[in-house]
Amino acid sequence: MTDTVVAGRRAALALRYGTAEAERAELAGELVWNEVLATQLAHRSVRKFLPDSVSEEQLRAIVAAASSAASSSNLQLWSVVAVTDRDRLGRIAALAGNQDAVRNAPLLLVWVADLARAGRIAEQNDRDLVNAGFVESALLGVVDATLAAQNAALAAESLGLGTVYIGAIRNHPTELAEELNLPAHSFAVVGLVVGHPDPTAAAEVKPRLGVDVVLHREQYDLEAQEAGTAEYEARISAFYREQGLADSWIERVVGRFATPGALGVREGLKEALERRGFDLN
Ligand SMILES: Cc1cc2nc3c(=O)[nH]c(=O)nc-3n(C[C@H](O)[C@H](O)[C@H](O)COP(=O)(O)O)c2cc1C
Repeated sequence: MTDTVVAGRRAALALRYGTAEAERAELAGELVWNEVLATQLAHRSVRKFLPDSVSEEQLRAIVAAASSAASSSNLQLWSVVAVTDRDRLGRIAALAGNQDAVRNAPLLLVWVADLARAGRIAEQNDRDLVNAGFVESALLGVVDATLAAQNAALAAESLGLGTVYIGAIRNHPTELAEELNLPAHSFAVVGLVVGHPDPTAAAEVKPRLGVDVVLHREQYDLEAQEAGTAEYEARISAFYREQGLADSWIERVVGRFATPGALGVREGLKEALERRGFDLN
């Protein structure tokens, strides 16, 4: 490893985990590093883009990367809808939390858990899609779509593009399905805005929980995470303050999972999925 590569690795680890982790890795003589890891550790969500479009070549490369993700039994239970029409983006933004990143998106990729294709194939073979209603079948589609989406996000970042996921795409599943003409037995899992990052609106690498908080050896240990979680709260709070956000990660967790009503319209997701042919048995 050249000095430049070592310095780049140290900087990347420091941004993600703090200087203590970067120093620890260096003292331990850890030398594992390459361009893929560098791209992954440099990930940050980008919400402001130049008006330039994502080229057809870039889109096709991104979808080829998505297709190359592993897929449960190679069933490939996902599809992606690419949206660039400004009127449609405006309508989708209205359904997805009125986010400017969606309204002004150069390209919105909507990742779909897709058992409709399987349904069509079953029909053409005079069979019924009798197993679509199980939770397991919905999860197969969600996992496949998510793995594809993350391969796409990494591919986009490797091409110098920026991305932001849009979970708010699940706010109004019925209306969104109508807008995208999604067939029964399919639903939108997540959106991904892709574009050329606006260099005047620099997006920072966001600190994460330390490796030792999320990495368990042999068996899961909840109590062992306490010190690491407290260390993270201090580190991310400093980051949020730098960003002008008076915020705490712990308050975010409590706000989302321990505050009644925090899921808002998404509390109705089960019923919406049932209407789309996923009974979740
Ligand atoms: C499934 C999922 C849904 C998300 N939905 C939104 C969203 O609707 N709007 C948004 O601005 N960011 C969204 N994000 C981005 C997260 O806020 C972001 O990944 C997180 O704050 C970590 O920041 P980073 O990606 O810059 O590291 C989403 C991320 C994921 C993984």
